[in-house]
Amino acid sequence: YTVNLDASDISKGTYDHYMLKEIDEQPNVMRKISQNYIKNDGSLNVETALLDEMKKADRLYIVAAGTSYHAGLVGKNIFERIADIPVDVELGSEFGYHMPKLSKHPFFIFLSQSGETADSRQVLVKVNEMNLPSLTMTNVPNSTLSREATFTMELLAGPEIAVASTKAYTAQIAVESVLAKALGEVKDLKVAHEFNLKEQLALAANGIQTIVDEKDKIKALTADYLTDQSDAFYIGRGIDYALSLEAALKLKEISYIHAEGFAAGELKHGTIALIEKDTPVIAYINDGAGASHTRGNIQEVEARGAHVLVIASQKYAEPGDQIIIPEIDELISPIISVVPAQLIAYYASLARGNDVDKPRNLAKSVTVE
Ligand code: AGP
Repeated sequence: YTVNLDASDISKGTYDHYMLKEIDEQPNVMRKISQNYIKNDGSLNVETALLDEMKKADRLYIVAAGTSYHAGLVGKNIFERIADIPVDVELGSEFGYHMPKLSKHPFFIFLSQSGETADSRQVLVKVNEMNLPSLTMTNVPNSTLSREATFTMELLAGPEIAVASTKAYTAQIAVESVLAKALGEVKDLKVAHEFNLKEQLALAANGIQTIVDEKDKIKALTADYLTDQSDAFYIGRGIDYALSLEAALKLKEISYIHAEGFAAGELKHGTIALIEKDTPVIAYINDGAGASHTRGNIQEVEARGAHVLVIASQKYAEPGDQIIIPEIDELISPIISVVPAQLIAYYASLARGNDVDKPRNLAKSVTVE
């Protein structure tokens, strides 16, 4: 299929649901981001004025809601490692009313697919009142958050119609990596020059394609692990903990299974009491620093009867792991690793007869606080 990422394309095409179409569009979104932000000579297409402003910052504050907040948690690692700058990731609904003591030279990044989320926008209003610099990364040019921020960058994901955000999440991580690399380069950081963005975005596109080509296997695993289950856990460490929060939200919001994204190492401090026979636990292992410990956590939950599904990167995979994530830099590995969770949520929702694209009680853009 060809993917038309122009704003005009809001048809489902041959798909039963927008969500599956949007999951399938992700490889081409990665290619479009690469084509748009990386020039032929390898330099990056990022506003000089934006980079000049960010160079003055001593701390980044990423402000968002829902899935975009989860993309911000992944972005924290990316900016801290590639651009060598501390990052706080904040929920707009909290930050706006309980603003922490800010650093001397803060810079604000708003992540918002719609660019209309009231919880995030009310923070931008306050940031503007304080005359502080900001950037909005959004999928909707000329949206409120895009217009009212100092700078803006487009996600280029094309219209996202399904309420459950998929391609916007992976696009946010990709565009965060573009900006982090650009900032690292203007700071002349070795790590930025070593992060081969073009190669990594190509690995992302191909890696996502590998997973979406395994739909039938993931549909079968979903039936095996989640049929007749009312609770589920996603667990991971480091980058996989941030990813687990997004994976759990996908499952909750369209299948209505009560899923938790949990720090694997934290389970034993109480929550493991919830694990009983056949409780589905989906464990992510892309994060090298935590890999062996997460294997230990898997044994702990299995000892209490859990039914464990392991999603592991090629580098850390072991025999018996059900889903293998193709090679990619660990920092942006959620771009690929989230896709099994997107598909698991999709199939679990379908199996329950839910309205996948328009789940109960939810709106695509939450324009009320
Ligand atoms: C994600 O699947 C949900 N639809 C929701 O959490 C969404 O991410 C959140 O409302 C933020 O929306 P925004 O990215 O348009 O600001």
